[in-house]
Amino acid sequence: MTFARQHRIQVVAHRGASEDAPEHTLAAYKKAVEDGADALECDVRLTADGHLVCVHDRRVNRTSNGRGAVSALELAELAALDFGSWKKDHDEVAEGEGPDWEGSAGDEVTSVLTLERLLELVAESNASGRRVQLAIETKHPTRWAGQVEERLLLLLKRFGLDAPPAQGPSPVRVMSFSARSLHRVRAASPTLPTVFLMQFVLPRHRDGRLPEGVGIAGPGMRILRNHPAYVAKLKRAGHQVHVWTVNEPEDVELCAELGVDAIITNRPKQILSQLSQL
Ligand code: G3P
Ligand code: CA
Repeated sequence: MTFARQHRIQVVAHRGASEDAPEHTLAAYKKAVEDGADALECDVRLTADGHLVCVHDRRVNRTSNGRGAVSALELAELAALDFGSWKKDHDEVAEGEGPDWEGSAGDEVTSVLTLERLLELVAESNASGRRVQLAIETKHPTRWAGQVEERLLLLLKRFGLDAPPAQGPSPVRVMSFSARSLHRVRAASPTLPTVFLMQFVLPRHRDGRLPEGVGIAGPGMRILRNHPAYVAKLKRAGHQVHVWTVNEPEDVELCAELGVDAIITNRPKQILSQLSQL
């Protein structure tokens, strides 16, 4: 199917360029910036000693050589783990060849990444003229009630990113499946854009209206495949639409056809290339 694209779709690197390098490592984010991603997506969790680190799962078992919940480990304990080597076993590579990311500087491909370091990367990139935005997802174990958002806003404040002007694009946005988490963020920083992530559409959101104050809708790709008309409802209700996780060419086509605003993907380079040809 071919069609003229009405507007430019933003490409957001999901956990960095996570198809090409271990997710949530500095190597994956540097690769995403190099590949031309418009924005970087990351999940954040609090360590036992109160640091925000970029880790998706509640536990470190899948993406490191350690075991246990992030919330039960201190940053120094996480720093002693290898967050990169699991991908070698996971990826299928041709015999005699290493994976693409193996050549990356050692620590960058194996160390746990703090949100602070990722914010530094974004600041460095923007200072050098390569503008890139950051979409931060709060993963929020209930035991931390409010502390993830509190620490996040303190950190954003240190980087001068907690209160972007209401007009113009914000360098940072906060995403969550939890309306309460987004509400906490908006209460502290009303101009910080928020994205309400949806795995499925609850009856109260069927008309396209989202929780009070949320500007951006974040439906999963499955919602678009099953209910493509939902995008128009969200747009009529005044929301931008950022879709996750879009890795397949036919899904990219559908997103473009429906006029979504951003595609969140593990493969920013390939998706940018496909979009440039639509
Ligand atoms: O960008 C939203 C998407 O990341 C939500 O799902 O499980 O990958 O955090 P998950
Ligand atoms: Ca995420």
